[in-house]
Amino acid sequence: MYEAFFYREGELFCEEIALSELARRFGTPLYVYSANAIRDRWHALRAAFAPDPPLFCYAVKANHNLAVIRTLALLGAGADVVSGGELARARAAGVPARKIVFAGVGKTDAEIRRALEEDILQFNVESESELERIAAIARALGRRAPIALRVNPDVAAATHDKIATGRRGDKFGVPIEDAPALYEKAARLPGLEPVGVHLHVGSQIFELSTFERAYARAIALARALRGRGIAIRRLDLGGGFGVPYDGEPPFDVAGLAALVRRLVAGLDVELVFEPGRFLVAEAGVLVSAVVELKETRERRFLVLDAGMNALLRPALYGARHALLPVRAPAPHETLLVTDVVGPICESSDRFGRDYALPRLRPGDLVAFRTAGAYGMVMASDYNSRPSPAEVLIDGRKAALVRARREPEEQMAQERIPEWLERSVRATGCGSGA
Ligand SMILES: Cc1ncc(COP(=O)(O)O)c(C=O)c1O
Repeated sequence: MYEAFFYREGELFCEEIALSELARRFGTPLYVYSANAIRDRWHALRAAFAPDPPLFCYAVKANHNLAVIRTLALLGAGADVVSGGELARARAAGVPARKIVFAGVGKTDAEIRRALEEDILQFNVESESELERIAAIARALGRRAPIALRVNPDVAAATHDKIATGRRGDKFGVPIEDAPALYEKAARLPGLEPVGVHLHVGSQIFELSTFERAYARAIALARALRGRGIAIRRLDLGGGFGVPYDGEPPFDVAGLAALVRRLVAGLDVELVFEPGRFLVAEAGVLVSAVVELKETRERRFLVLDAGMNALLRPALYGARHALLPVRAPAPHETLLVTDVVGPICESSDRFGRDYALPRLRPGDLVAFRTAGAYGMVMASDYNSRPSPAEVLIDGRKAALVRARREPEEQMAQERIPEWLERSVRATGCGSGA
């Protein structure tokens, strides 16, 4: 596997550029993405499925930066989108509409209309009522919407509770046993063309047996539907392939491809997958500067300029990201056991306890690994801190692909109503006097 982040002469690099140089040029917190690491993951997936790779629709939710989507679009990726905004991003980044699938439990009428007008590949439908709405909107536009039902196969993925999506009781999809009747209804509705079966059972899954159970159910359904005269020609088997965050073994892509080959043998069906994390997580780091070292009688805290506002996963899921000092420790340097926290006024703003790090000083830099997925997309303005900026590296080239949002820009989108302005004039408050 291509390793984009490595130490050279004591300094952590991304491809051909030192992270310290990037921090000087662009400031911190800073997301740094390696274009070649993204390409490497893409080629690893395609190679596993050679000679007949499926359509990989990159799950834009993982990292929706236009430059990241464009990097993948240039390789031939489609897009899995879950909102009108993601659809707009995928199109703006150059993904052809006929390579876009649209999932999500809350598609609005306007989003459905937009996707129909764009002529996307497939709607992944999450409920009976959504099916009816898509049919009505398509009919009004004089179109037939290509649809797959997102089926819930009732498979509990061995992953974090908050990112498992395929169990009975999760909000996603329709129970698989209800699917045949819904497909028959869809086949009768003039605005719809049932073309596929879709599922996605969760994220950060390593166990191939989870995929096998879920895929087998989708395939059995496709066969049964064909038996009833419904021409299912596509299986969209979702994403969810795991990535190592803190030393776990890598995901078995070759094993996945082999099991898919075995399951679909003789079926003559187009395959679609929706990998997000797998393609971009390891291609990114979050570079942050030490602001403060705080020692209490109980613990030692390293306070960074990035917090849950910049990288939410630890606070949201209890996720742990490996953390590297940007300057390599000397060979026998003593490492200190430290809690690593952000500046946000929440106790949950903690990246983790007991990181072993060299003695760092304010201004020193650290990098959270595996931050390319579900990182910047979840960043917020909480505590009115400047947002992280994002840069894309390609060999010796570095480009700012998203500027930092300073508090002034955050405020520029806000308005004080006129009636409060009047009160200011009456009271003198806010006049600076
Ligand atoms: C429908 C769907 N497809 C694909 C993905 C991508 O998952 P991952 O990033 O784990 O590959 C998700 C993630 O939530 C999803 O909901």
